[in-house]
Amino acid sequence: MSANKIFVANWKMNLTAAAGVNLVKSLLPVLSAKLTTEVVVCPSFPALPATAEAISNTSLKLGAQDLSWLDKGNLTGEVSAAMLKEWGVEYVIVGHSERRQQLGEDDSIINQKMQQALRSGLVPMLCVGESFVDKQQGRRDFVIAGQVESALKDIVLQGKEIIIAYEPIWAIGSGQPVKPLAAEQAARVIKQVLIDLYPGLNVKASARILYGGSVAAENILSFVKTDLLNGVLVATASLAIDEFSAMLKKIN
Ligand code: PGA
Repeated sequence: MSANKIFVANWKMNLTAAAGVNLVKSLLPVLSAKLTTEVVVCPSFPALPATAEAISNTSLKLGAQDLSWLDKGNLTGEVSAAMLKEWGVEYVIVGHSERRQQLGEDDSIINQKMQQALRSGLVPMLCVGESFVDKQQGRRDFVIAGQVESALKDIVLQGKEIIIAYEPIWAIGSGQPVKPLAAEQAARVIKQVLIDLYPGLNVKASARILYGGSVAAENILSFVKTDLLNGVLVATASLAIDEFSAMLKKIN
């Protein structure tokens, strides 16, 4: 696993294939400056093939925003790990709070998707984070520990690679990131859960922990300068070329 920081761009349902390809092409001058940061772009499913082609001669890597928990079958609208791999996908977001809250994804489905991603050789990027009410009630650590534990139920991590993104729900798309110290505290909690779940595992070698939620050029450095966080997951600020380039320049 790379020791470099990782920058994940989650375009959600915002960019068509043409718009994503344009964005990638506009990033090329920044990418040619030999980035030490690993950059992963996660377009929508229909935009994956065109994006894969556009990034083929660059250092960018391809991620998907979701996957099915099954290999194949009669499951209208779902996309399997094998289909993603055929498009060159290496990473996949699992359990984003928007899917948990608006599409009814529960802990059991998220656990099955984690298992499926790991079985298929994809690196799952598990999203965990508390709601505003949880935060106000001082339940952050309890919530994120529970989400990590249930997502990893029955999973053997030895020899595998995972990414866990701490994404407080109230910070997503709000323009209000958490204080860097709070992100570090959350990363510590996640690390401790991994240590407790997997005694003897070299956690540093198996898991990278990211922060996500209103990351932008003006605050990105505060989240990547600490050793406790291995990078960031960015949505809104990764949709505009100027902001995307500014973030990459800052962390390089
Ligand atoms: P944001 O979203 O960067 O727009 O806050 C982050 C995310 O949902 O992953």
